[in-house]
Amino acid sequence: MKYEVLKKDKTDEETSGHALHDYDKMYASFSWKASEKEFVSDDGCLNAAYVAIDRHVGTWRRNKLALIFEDEAGFIEKFTFEDLSLLSNKVGNILKDFGAERGDRVFLFLPRTPYLYISFLAILKIGGVAGALFSAFQEQALFDRLEDSSTSIVITTSQLLPRLSGIRKKLKNLKHIITVDTDDFKTSVANASADLRIAGTRPDDHAFMLYTSGTTGKPKGVVHVHKAIVHQAMSARLVLDLKEDDTYWCTADPGWITGISYEILGNLALGITTLVFSGRFDPKRWYTLLAAHKVTVWYTAPTAIRMLMAQGVSLPKSFDLSNLRHLCSVGEPLNPEAIRWSIKAFGRPFHDTWFQTETGAIMIANFATLDIRVGSMGKPMPGVVAAIVDDSGRQVPNGTEGNIALRPGWPAMMQAIWKRLGKYHSYFINGWYMSGDHGTKDGDGYFWFIGRADDVIKTSGERVGPFEVESALVEHPAVVEAGVIGKPDELRGEIIKAFVVLDKDQRSKIKNQKDGERLKEELMEYVKKHLAGHAYPREIEFIDSLPKTRSGKIMRRILKAKELGLPVGDTSTLEEY
Ligand code: WT7
Repeated sequence: MKYEVLKKDKTDEETSGHALHDYDKMYASFSWKASEKEFVSDDGCLNAAYVAIDRHVGTWRRNKLALIFEDEAGFIEKFTFEDLSLLSNKVGNILKDFGAERGDRVFLFLPRTPYLYISFLAILKIGGVAGALFSAFQEQALFDRLEDSSTSIVITTSQLLPRLSGIRKKLKNLKHIITVDTDDFKTSVANASADLRIAGTRPDDHAFMLYTSGTTGKPKGVVHVHKAIVHQAMSARLVLDLKEDDTYWCTADPGWITGISYEILGNLALGITTLVFSGRFDPKRWYTLLAAHKVTVWYTAPTAIRMLMAQGVSLPKSFDLSNLRHLCSVGEPLNPEAIRWSIKAFGRPFHDTWFQTETGAIMIANFATLDIRVGSMGKPMPGVVAAIVDDSGRQVPNGTEGNIALRPGWPAMMQAIWKRLGKYHSYFINGWYMSGDHGTKDGDGYFWFIGRADDVIKTSGERVGPFEVESALVEHPAVVEAGVIGKPDELRGEIIKAFVVLDKDQRSKIKNQKDGERLKEELMEYVKKHLAGHAYPREIEFIDSLPKTRSGKIMRRILKAKELGLPVGDTSTLEEY
């Protein structure tokens, strides 16, 4: 196997003061029990919001900046640890006044504004289960998640509220919608008590949940517990290399796991100052933010890096980015060109990291002190046992392709799939957690990503289930059936492509290419409006019939092979096609 190696000099500034100076030594001696001691009090209780915020208030960090917000218009708001402590106490009391009790699901449908973060912490403080809904979600996506989780309170803004209006009546368990940008809410906050007794949650009590997609069925609720914060904090230290004086910018949205684990919990548990930008992606704006806030550690995703690359190196060179010390990436394969480009643009490489909604925190990573084998995801986080196994959960020899698997027992591991015990158990085979990703491990323990073992789509780093998109498409009167795949795309990793079988009458109405294009546009808009802005098919192809198994399941594998001009493989279970 040929690969480029970026040697790390252990005496240089970046690596010498690193918490993980000697990977092998730390990996051998690491224990979660010992790590817990730093974050968890002795009484056996663990509340992640307390660990992230209130723990610091009794220390010199009380007046340290915790979160800095900048919005599209350049408006900046700053919050110290004490500010967040008091405000989350107030919101906790408001939620209690609305009747929220321990274990209740309270979901956030908010853009990246302060109340998203404050409310998230407040929900954890009262022992509730917080859920985050990506602000691009539309009615169908919102309904599925709120219905499945039996959410009782949703917190939103007046701008997003209309998307809930149409489904509100159908949601039997939804008791209240709180709108944070109203005068009413401001008055409630002003009047609420800033004293709150934080719920004495146990390490294994549910703290938050996120819906994520698999191959089939509706999205599933991945449930995480309070003790996940131990892993999130330790990985923020060992992988993201966060240190006391850092200004850290994570570009993810808390609607996805990265935004919760590394924009709220892990980073704040370490007492780090974190920047949150709620505006749109724009290369010049991003460099302006890096320079103006003197960002030192930056965590972003390959699609964003590729979009920056497309603008060239002279743009970043025209900014003073000398404070940047450590760069990390997550969510999809980080191509070697992106690493080479970042060395040219910023004088340092991006460090690839790998994890999933279900793993709750970083599992495999390129550590600042470890040589980078360009194209590899790196090595397991201390405390994590990773392996490549076959479909029956037996380890395969080094260099052989197989399933990326993890030994259960890391603190951030999901503890349930909401209401679907069978689904939860199906992740585990022969004592391994099966990730659904394929990869290899080389003789020195570096892991290499190959691809998904299933039909899950990764578009711009965001996980989309084909079934959700297919279901949205068939809701349109012109569509009889749809099959959806991820099509490789240089910029976005994959784009969503839909193969659509039209209703006979509709088909006869298409007289020319223009009519066809118009209908395609209409279908794209339809998915955007009903499901989510990011989950619509950028390409649609009309076909006469879909390849299906004899039992009627759409064979997306065949659609994909045809799209890529690859052999279609085993079709023995295929219905005539
Ligand atoms: C899937 C999980 C954004 C935070 C984690 C995403 C893919 C993740 C990498 C990487 C190649 C990656 C995998 C994984 N993925 N990181 N470094 N290289 N692929 O959480 O949305 O649950 O997605 O993202 O396919 O299974 P997620």
